Amino acid sequence: MTDPQDGRQEAPLVAQAADPEDRAVEAALRPKNLDDFVGQKRVRRQLSLVLEASRLRGRSADHVLLSGPPGLGKTTLAMIIAAEMNAPLRISSGPAIQHAGDLAAILSSLTDGEVLFLDEIHRMSRPAEEMLYMAMEDFRVDIIVGKGPGATAIPLELPPFTLVGATTRAGLLPGPLRDRFGFTGHLEFYSTDELELVLRRSAMLMDMAVNSAAFAEIAGRSRGTPRIANRLLRRVRDWALVHGSVSIDARAASAALDMYEVDARGLDRLDRSVLTALITKFNGGPVGLSTLAIAVGEEPETVETVAEPYLVREGMLGRTPRGRIATASAWKHLGLVMPPTVAAAMPEDLFSVAPDDLVGTDTTFERWSRPEG
Ligand SMILES: Nc1ncnc2c1ncn2[C@@H]1O[C@H](COP(=O)(O)OP(=O)(O)OP(=O)(O)O)[C@@H](O)[C@H]1O
Ligand SMILES: [Mg+2]
Repeated sequence: MTDPQDGRQEAPLVAQAADPEDRAVEAALRPKNLDDFVGQKRVRRQLSLVLEASRLRGRSADHVLLSGPPGLGKTTLAMIIAAEMNAPLRISSGPAIQHAGDLAAILSSLTDGEVLFLDEIHRMSRPAEEMLYMAMEDFRVDIIVGKGPGATAIPLELPPFTLVGATTRAGLLPGPLRDRFGFTGHLEFYSTDELELVLRRSAMLMDMAVNSAAFAEIAGRSRGTPRIANRLLRRVRDWALVHGSVSIDARAASAALDMYEVDARGLDRLDRSVLTALITKFNGGPVGLSTLAIAVGEEPETVETVAEPYLVREGMLGRTPRGRIATASAWKHLGLVMPPTVAAAMPEDLFSVAPDDLVGTDTTFERWSRPEG
């Protein structure tokens, strides 16, 4: 994953987090209102109720916490909330607020009804967090002037505002902060059908001619993530441009994405080499992380943080107390059949559900569970 030219780490095409190109183009593709926001039905319905109620009461909306993995639409929703409330939007982020004073400066300049978006809110400093508790609850902060015994607290009234916090790590938020949000929306990965809608909308905005089968082809490789879907769509557009294709069909889309080594289930080169090593060199495991990493020529950390989360989520790789194992669905994906002896040696719990239904909810084998719904 390291660029041989300059040793720089290059983000994989299927990375969840935004790369510089994403940041440059995403603003243009963001839906501007709730109706254009695809999927997330539950969150959308609940949020629209919260907003409608606050409009009826003529008050600023309750504070909203949005949590979920990168690229699923937290920033987009924050902007939509401000737009739907017809309110100005102020944007800052946890890492930018290292002192209580940083937060005081933002809060004291808010206008009536303004929406304050704090991205990566779990990364705010402790003193700032404590100031935020009071601001959220009582619309008031105490500004501390001076130091030591002579320090005095000057109370400052704030106009009513709506805080929208976003976090990829809801578990890291302290309870008192979480409790002060009137509404928490947890964003889920998107279905392929929903991603097709995201892609249709983006293709229209990008003035691309793409047929339905091609949308399905790209959506299937997008790992349930709109950001990845839009990124793959841009790569397909590049491919079509270079190959002189005016309109894009499924064959063009798959040829383009095959060239970028993103396969039919959204696995990239590293993901596949992890599975291939696990199966061909270790007969499906269990094998320790560091041994597996050496076998694919990567750092253990890269295997663990870059490749494994999606493989676990897709039920292709299991993390057991004895090491990593490839599930039947991994064998199948590589066009292989799991030998009966290997199947028999698999941990029992792993097969208490059909292998294809396995979803890794966390890093530990013990916490594997059936997908909801
Ligand atoms: N529901 C959706 N409908 C249409 N497009 C979406 C949707 N959700 C996200 N997108 C697209 O995906 C891109 C990434 O979304 P966004 O920036 O809101 O993600 P995020 O959750 O804030 O990610 P991060 O955690 O990295 O900040 C946006 O440019 C937007 O165009
Ligand atoms: Mg964001």
